[in-house]
Amino acid sequence: MSAVRTSKMAATEKQILCVGLVCLDIINVVEKFPVEDTDTRCLSQRWQRGGNASNTCTVLSILGAPCGFMGSLAPGRVSDFITDDFQSRGVNISNIVWQCVGITPCACCIVNHSNGSRTVILSDTNLPDVNSEDFRKIDLSLYKWIHWEVFVSKDVARHFGFNSASEAVKGLYSRVKPGAYLICAWAEKGADAMGPDGAFHSNAFPPEKLVDTLGAGDTFNAAVLFSLCNGKSIQESLMFGCQVAGRKCGIQGYDGIV
Ligand SMILES: Nc1ncnc2c1ncn2[C@@H]1O[C@H](COP(=O)(O)OP(=O)(O)O)[C@@H](O)[C@H]1O
Ligand SMILES: [Mg+2]
Repeated sequence: MSAVRTSKMAATEKQILCVGLVCLDIINVVEKFPVEDTDTRCLSQRWQRGGNASNTCTVLSILGAPCGFMGSLAPGRVSDFITDDFQSRGVNISNIVWQCVGITPCACCIVNHSNGSRTVILSDTNLPDVNSEDFRKIDLSLYKWIHWEVFVSKDVARHFGFNSASEAVKGLYSRVKPGAYLICAWAEKGADAMGPDGAFHSNAFPPEKLVDTLGAGDTFNAAVLFSLCNGKSIQESLMFGCQVAGRKCGIQGYDGIV
């Protein structure tokens, strides 16, 4: 196939749109978690574009899926950093909603290099969310999949009183549209799904050494979406999600997950 034809196909291929949060993550990688009211040095520090939908776009683009982000930003230096980074990954940002009030959210994150744990403090105070008016403006014909909230995280599941992914997907299944799959990841326990054809599980694929679990759930979501969009079964997609998320946990950031 000629290069011209390949690039034309890429340009017309439908995208996956992820709707939700983008923020700045200021990440401190530490050797061990600090004791309160002490003054310590980190191993390294970086700015990273963060937020669930934004991270999912990062992973989708690394996996090779054309994708776009929809969410709110306030103009300024932080959002310049964010939009530059989206563009460097080839993520479509034509559906960013620029707000004239509010501050772009920022998260201060501690990643513990010795066990990969991530501790996040998010400041997300006054930036308005996208609304149905904004959504009406988008050209739906460009997208093959719109990712919102279908997946349920361990934190949300725990909030509802569930103690495992399988309990959560079974217990919450009556709340989703008939025919839908409900998916829940549960860190080192892997992930479960529930659908019209029953319950599914994948074990986790832990890396040799856990170093950075920040965005593991977003990575899992992206890999599952990617796999489902490519016509794979829910069981294959859960496993692929856990494989890619497992690789992510073994590296800092996202470069190197494939
Ligand atoms: N400690 C871990 N060991 C192995 N795999 C992990 C670990 N933490 C996360 N993962 C992988 O990442 C996926 C999502 O992790 P999870 O901790 O549930 O998300 P988050 O904390 O980002 O909401 C899991 O299903 C698993 O595949
Ligand atoms: Mg986690």
